[in-house]
Amino acid sequence: MYVCICNSLTDRQVRSALASGARNTRQVYGHFGCSCVCGKCMPMIRSLISEHESTARDDPFPLAAE
Ligand code: FES
Repeated sequence: MYVCICNSLTDRQVRSALASGARNTRQVYGHFGCSCVCGKCMPMIRSLISEHESTARDDPFPLAAE
């Protein structure tokens, strides 16, 4: 599903950026060489960041999943 229309970023791409080490919205955009345009995607990207952080926190073997 597209989460950022301005930059054509999907939730899968955002999750990929987070798995590669992006930790905030700026780093997510930077991972794809783009930047925030209108900001409407910010809440969704922040939600994906929170989801990623809570999943990482709950995983007792974080390296085994990668
Ligand atoms: S929808 Fe992401 S910057 Fe506009």
